[in-house]
Amino acid sequence: MGRSRTSSGPAEDLLIELDRDAGVPLHRQIEASIRASVRAGRLRAGASLPPSRTLAAGLGVSRGVIVEAYQQLVAEGYLTSRSGGYTQVAASIPPAAGDPAVSGARPAAAGPGFRVDFGYGRTDVSQFPRAAWLRSVRSVLTTTPNDRFAYLDGRGVPELRQALCDYLNRVRGTLAAPGHTVVCNGYAQGISLLIQVLARRGARRIAVEDPSSADDARPLAEAAGLDVIGVPVGQEGVRIDALDLADADALVLTPSHQWPTGGVLSAAARAEVIRWARRRDAIVIEDDYDAEYRYDRSPVGAMQGLAPDHVVYCGTASKTLAPGLRLGWLVLPAHLVADVAAAKVLADRGSAVIDQLTFADFLGRGEFDRHLRRMRPVYRRRRDALLDALRTRLPELRPAGIAAGQHVVAWLPPDLDEAAVVAAAARHGLGIQGVGPFRIAPAGPGGLIFGYAILGESAIAEGVALLATAIREVRGS
Ligand SMILES: Cc1ncc(COP(=O)(O)O)c(C=O)c1O
Repeated sequence: MGRSRTSSGPAEDLLIELDRDAGVPLHRQIEASIRASVRAGRLRAGASLPPSRTLAAGLGVSRGVIVEAYQQLVAEGYLTSRSGGYTQVAASIPPAAGDPAVSGARPAAAGPGFRVDFGYGRTDVSQFPRAAWLRSVRSVLTTTPNDRFAYLDGRGVPELRQALCDYLNRVRGTLAAPGHTVVCNGYAQGISLLIQVLARRGARRIAVEDPSSADDARPLAEAAGLDVIGVPVGQEGVRIDALDLADADALVLTPSHQWPTGGVLSAAARAEVIRWARRRDAIVIEDDYDAEYRYDRSPVGAMQGLAPDHVVYCGTASKTLAPGLRLGWLVLPAHLVADVAAAKVLADRGSAVIDQLTFADFLGRGEFDRHLRRMRPVYRRRRDALLDALRTRLPELRPAGIAAGQHVVAWLPPDLDEAAVVAAAARHGLGIQGVGPFRIAPAGPGGLIFGYAILGESAIAEGVALLATAIREVRGS
């Protein structure tokens, strides 16, 4: 008995438990075990199985038993066998009734098979600064003493906390201190830790923007037993006049580029939110997810710099470097630090040390700044291509929130039904999502979310042309 491997070479071991008292022939037990492993994905398409002789020796059975089991699974389509080659898991396995659908990675908007896909939330990972990152990895692996690779403080490595605070205080106008900073696995984990801590401390109601992201704070808060209250968003972000009605202990906010509508919260509204938080002794959770991309307006500093005692600053490398890095950070009011760090240790005993040290080195060398300087014009050109195409082909759509970030919302004229446009677009090979699925209130103006960050300029133009065709079809029907 041992672990299965899924490399292309021959595996040596495969986890198969045999029950010699079960009254079931051994080859049937082996078949059932391999079939179940393939179905569950423990053995992936293309994975090589151990040679029959090796597996037979490992399991203490005759080679004929293994050959019989392999042949049966080849006949069923689970395995393939080349003469003289290894037995492998087939490229596509037979469907089983009742297979659960496994939900894919973010974003949910995009599906396979679109000619053009405006799915949101995708950073151009083809531009990941591999050479510079490699330099930092090499430097970390060369210079870091062994004892640094042990378990760590729940807040993360001091080098990264210091480098992040230097960067945030310089670029985002925060008042961040390394001692108040917790490194986490992206915003998703940061908000999860915070909600757990706030709920344990007696929070009952959490306010979120309406519309807002539907797959982080909202379901996490509900799972922690909190009431989730939507605060309507106007042109410039969350509507302050509606905030008091929410009667909330915390407010999750995207002030630098409201998600998804793109508004930037004005200085007056920021001050009002801070006054609200102080009055109620509430916490503002500032999700600064794509503040680094700013095109034609001067940057607006983070709210945390106005009230570090009431604002939790949440940052992420998902938009700037790559979501797959799973690097995020929280800057916390003093009274939350110990509990959030303890929640982090409980969750996963800390984020990967080598990645943290690498990111610290990368920041310290100025590579993060250099990468952003290189990427801003790339995204800006894509955004401009989108706005040009919309202006030319669909002037009746009203783009909003265009000054920052990696997506644009365009509002539909009242006669166009958002869901009908999204469905027609999909029929024409265009992946795009509406604002509707992110609303808490039952209805609101129709709008489309254009994620443009990974599309070349000609694909963007083609996408808008497909949308224009789809809209003509909706109007015609
Ligand atoms: C509103 C919002 N905040 C934050 C993030 C980043 O999440 P994470 O850091 O977990 O990748 C996203 C990702 O799409 C987002 O849409």
